[in-house]
Amino acid sequence: MYAAPPIPPDIVALSDYEAAARQRMDDKAWAYFAGGSADESTLRANQAAFGDLLLQTRVLAEMQGAETRLTLFGQPMDYPILLAPVAFHRLVHPDGELAAAFGAAAMGATMVVSSQASTTLEAIAASTAAPLWFQLYIQHDRSFTEALLRRAEAAGYRAIVVTVDAPAATRNREQRAGFALPPGIEAANLRGLPPTPPSRAGLAESDVFRGLLDAAPSWKDIAWLRSLTRLPLLLKGIMSPADAQRAVAEGMDGIIVSNHGGRSLDTLPASITALPRIADAVGGRLPLLLDGGIRRGTDVLKALALGAHAVLLGRPQIHGLAVGGPVGVAHVLKILRTELEIAMALTGCTRLDRIDRGVLWDAPPQ
Ligand code: GLV
Repeated sequence: MYAAPPIPPDIVALSDYEAAARQRMDDKAWAYFAGGSADESTLRANQAAFGDLLLQTRVLAEMQGAETRLTLFGQPMDYPILLAPVAFHRLVHPDGELAAAFGAAAMGATMVVSSQASTTLEAIAASTAAPLWFQLYIQHDRSFTEALLRRAEAAGYRAIVVTVDAPAATRNREQRAGFALPPGIEAANLRGLPPTPPSRAGLAESDVFRGLLDAAPSWKDIAWLRSLTRLPLLLKGIMSPADAQRAVAEGMDGIIVSNHGGRSLDTLPASITALPRIADAVGGRLPLLLDGGIRRGTDVLKALALGAHAVLLGRPQIHGLAVGGPVGVAHVLKILRTELEIAMALTGCTRLDRIDRGVLWDAPPQ
């Protein structure tokens, strides 16, 4: 059904997929997906911070009956790894999101479909048995936003992820590469979105405050969305304990601790660095998920140890897709799941709820 080149046998880790994807992706698409914002400090920190966290091994543990199952928002999952929302999959594979969803379904993973997918949310839902969540950007046109939400509900999406951290960003790598969407690739869900009202800013005025942010969402819009849907509602892009507490107060069902893969505000800490403080602020009142820098099963273990219930994979799914289409996406998930199980075995954890700060060599600084 899908174009699926064989996976080279020397691809055994997510970093191998990244290197192979670099060979297959054109420079502009690479700049778009690989890049972060400004000087990319946060982008680098996301991965580096996992490396700085050391583990504590526990040998000779009884591992009979070990498993990685969990339930999130009433949805059973075999393991705590989801595909993060990522825009424009067709930049790296002709079947785009359909191929990614096929790979997710093969591995029983949930895929979070982006508002900026290059395939409509309905076509993705019709093509796959994978559980789907929908990532919603609150559009400047609020009635269009509500219509998007209703479309996701009608198509059977099981949760809504509202990304709140990217009303504006400084994407220098993209700018230097002259990235623009090639003909034939578009944000398919946003067809018919009325154009953004022209900036009211004169030359000497702020483009940001008088233009871009005029229609940017605020907490009022989150309360409005909460009133519109009974689906689980998650905020993605929370990095501050105070915002996490506000999310709880606004009746959210979950939080995704994320700095948008280092693509929003540069010099934020790594998402794994922010996680413990957010977990303390939330105090178990709702589930936390995390994305940003996950490349190894040990990274998943560390995220769970510091309070996440599950993690999401952004760039690695694009690398898998570019290299091997649906098989590549499934293989990326399989590698990571296997590595997580090995990490659990070597830290003596038989179940996800046994993974706590005790698997870390040092308790992280608060
Ligand atoms: C879209 O969300 C992007 O990060 O480019």
